[in-house]
Amino acid sequence: MMKFSEDFVFGGATAAYQCEGSTRAYGKGKVAWDDYLEKQGRFSADPASDFYHKYPVDLKLCKDFSIKAIRISIAWSRIFPEGKGKINQEGVDFYHRVFQECHKNDVEPYVTLHHFDTPDALHSRGDFLNRETIDAFAKYAEFCFEEYKDEVTYWFTFNEVWPIATNQYIEGTFPPCITYDITKAVQSMHGMMVAHAKAVCAYKAHNYKGYIGIIHSLETKYPLNENDPKDVYAAKKEDVLANQFLLDATFLGYYTDETLNIINELVHLNNGTFEYDPADIEIMKKAAKENDYLGMNHYQSHFIKAYDGENEIHHNGTGEKGTKKFKLKGVGERVFKEGIPTTDWDWLIYPQGMYDMIMRIKKQYPNYKAIYITENGMGYKDDFNNGNIDDSPRIDYIKQHLQWLLKSIEDGANVKGYFVWSLMDVFSWSNGYNKRYGLFYVDYNTQERYPKKSAYWFKRVSETKEV
Ligand code: FCB
Repeated sequence: MMKFSEDFVFGGATAAYQCEGSTRAYGKGKVAWDDYLEKQGRFSADPASDFYHKYPVDLKLCKDFSIKAIRISIAWSRIFPEGKGKINQEGVDFYHRVFQECHKNDVEPYVTLHHFDTPDALHSRGDFLNRETIDAFAKYAEFCFEEYKDEVTYWFTFNEVWPIATNQYIEGTFPPCITYDITKAVQSMHGMMVAHAKAVCAYKAHNYKGYIGIIHSLETKYPLNENDPKDVYAAKKEDVLANQFLLDATFLGYYTDETLNIINELVHLNNGTFEYDPADIEIMKKAAKENDYLGMNHYQSHFIKAYDGENEIHHNGTGEKGTKKFKLKGVGERVFKEGIPTTDWDWLIYPQGMYDMIMRIKKQYPNYKAIYITENGMGYKDDFNNGNIDDSPRIDYIKQHLQWLLKSIEDGANVKGYFVWSLMDVFSWSNGYNKRYGLFYVDYNTQERYPKKSAYWFKRVSETKEV
């Protein structure tokens, strides 16, 4: 039987806005989500899992359950409440305390600088469509690199560039809630990739002794009917928009002709054009050589059917079974496929998609260096059952993905670690508190943590390296 190597990292993932709570306390600046959630009135990100106060408990749980690494994100607006300029020392000190507690428990922090939470001051002036945000991000990143250089070895610039762009500008489920604007989505992705490149180059220019990369959410896009050229092209277009555009930017530092042709076709549907400064490409090319690894979040794959009708993206905001439709004009329609199961939120469970994506990266971008699976896991309506939380479907889900991951390593891919989303239950962007992902159950009334069956199972995997 194949095993993961001794130095393979098994970790748990979190994000500041989803776990910290204290969203308007201790000097933290506003983010667009604060007003958006308040206006919606469905749920609030306060106190979420109260990580701001509970981090010693969560890090002790990591230690007790052999979870050797944690993904944490820094809330930009805790450090720079206005995105730039004045520094909030309370925020700076908070992350020092968290990192020190990590090391006290022998838990390695893997730190993301941006996880869906641009400070509102910059967000309201155009977010990453505005060069001001790109420059402010680079300054914020440089500040963190220097400030935390003795505590943090593993950095990620952004979490999930495509989901940010599509949710902000195509699906309209993240503020500013614009729909069907492929041009803005592409332009903002480019903006984030330039910001990423500036941060990477700044990090490397200082010769810090750590590592840096970016996290993409990579969902494999398969044609529904692989013998139908129209479906094949539809899947290709969705792949270029959601994956290849960003993989090109990350590993090549420029966009290939194939990518640009499809992107131009798509933005023209919007009567738009994709424009960028040639100087951006210079810095992106430099960063492409200096990146140490790719973080890959993977939850699901999509089967795509060609679609020429009008845009039709329906959702009721919850994403629960049967509530969502995705038909993008001139691109494709996401459809179910017989025999492929789905979660309670209609996410397709297709672990081979993770394998196929890793092998594709290895082949198409042979300079990729290393991959960490930075998020994978299953949203589930856990039954508390007096603290005996049997989440066997989640164990099955993770197990299948780990088995395909092992196969990719066996087939020559350099994958160095795997982080379960999420370490403990956290706030969900679309579902508040009813969609749970954690290895540890959080009772949101008492903030007590309870290990689920999956936590005991994952402990064994981490200790034995066998799945
Ligand atoms: C990913 C996000 C993460 C979490 C999971 C379920 O897209 O990175 O914050 O919400 O989905």
